[in-house]
This record gives sequence, structure tokens and C-alpha cells, in this order.
Amino acid sequence: MNTSRIDAFGEDVFRNSTYIDKLDLAFSQFFVRTPTGSLLAIATGMRADFPQLKTNLQGAGFDIASVASLIVPHFESDEMGALPDFMAHNAALVAYAHPICAHALSDIFSVKTKILKDETPVTINGEVVVPIHAKHVHQWDSLVVYVPRLKALFSSDIFMSYGPVDGEGGTLDNIVGSIDKSGYIPSLEHLASALKKIRKYDIESIFPMHGAPIRTHIPETIDGLIEHCETHRAVVAS
Ligand SMILES: [Fe+2]
Ligand SMILES: [Fe+2]
Repeated sequence: MNTSRIDAFGEDVFRNSTYIDKLDLAFSQFFVRTPTGSLLAIATGMRADFPQLKTNLQGAGFDIASVASLIVPHFESDEMGALPDFMAHNAALVAYAHPICAHALSDIFSVKTKILKDETPVTINGEVVVPIHAKHVHQWDSLVVYVPRLKALFSSDIFMSYGPVDGEGGTLDNIVGSIDKSGYIPSLEHLASALKKIRKYDIESIFPMHGAPIRTHIPETIDGLIEHCETHRAVVAS
């Protein structure tokens, strides 16, 4: 059975999530209310889940047409599958992505795209965002998004954990176990590289696409994951 819900975190962050019982895994999409009042979406969710997403947003007081911009963290169905449905409600929608992903989105969907450069801040609908490329975590074109105003990291598949979206998010053990179980982040070398870039930002909340948000012990969790990557690599290499 699938269950769907929308949650608010503070004034300006909204999360739509679908928990799939059979997989024990949740898929989340995020909506940031920008200083201009329009919504910046991060990930679309899959097409089959779009009608419920639209209903959930309406329940929270938002029209899907107010999604003016969309960040696609990588080219995968849960991150960009429902892009045509968002475009159908707002023809002026702009999609932001890694160059490889942006070219693919533009070619396939004829959507207006803008390229996100690594750790180069960009202002989207009045909101400053810092894209951080996370190559091969797990796709070549992966990136995560830091929003300085909110001190929030929208981490896509990094810090993923199995289970529902309630509670305080994955502990280090939980995250490591989830990475091992999923097999979706096979390159610990690339994961460590991404984490070292992420580590220097002032982060109060991590919002992963899968699992609950993390709001405590963030530096320790990042350091622990880096250590896990480096230790595990050493074991594999010896
Ligand atoms: Fe993914
Ligand atoms: Fe994912």
C-alpha cells in the first residue's frame, strides 16, 4: 500500500512524500516558497504519483501553477518523471539542472532550461541557491542543493534512509545500512568527494529524497559518512 502526505517545515519548506510499503521506502519532492511568493520545486516525483501530489499541494493552499521553477537533481524518473505534468500547468516553467541533465530535458521535453554550475550560487525567483555537483552519487549528472537563507540542504539520494518520513531522520548507521541495502551509491570514492564539498556549508536541516529529515548531529553525520567511505575503500583495496 502507498501512503501520501504533505508536511511543512517552518514557513517556507513543504515536502510531498509517498511511502511505498512494499519497498519500505519513501519518495519526496520539496517545494520552497521563495521571496517572490512563487514555488521552487526540487524533484518532480514519478508521473503516476502526480495527481496525488497536485491534490496534496492544493490541500496545503498551493496551486501547482505557482511552481515557477524546478530543480532536477539528476535524470531519473523520481526526480524528473512528472516534468511534463508540471509544464502542462505552467508553460513558463524553467528547469534547472546539471549541464548533462539540462540538455537531455531540453531535447526531450522542449522545456526551458538553465544550467547549474558546481558551487556557483544562482538566484531563482529571488531565492539564492547553491548547487553542489555530486558526480556519480549515483548518476553522473547528480547534484544537491543548498539554500543559504534556510540553512537547508536538499540532498537528493545522499543521506537516504529506508522507512517512513516521520521522526528525526537517519542516524549514521541507518544511512550506511540504507546505502548498502540499496546498492544505489556504488562509488564510495565519489560519495566521499561530494561529502567533503558539502561539509563546509552551514547546514541546520538536511532534506533527503528518501527518509526523514536530519536536524541534529549534522557535522558528525557527514564526518562519519566520509570516514565510512574511506575505511571501506581501504578494506576493499587491501
Ligand atoms: Fe536517484
Ligand atoms: Fe532517489
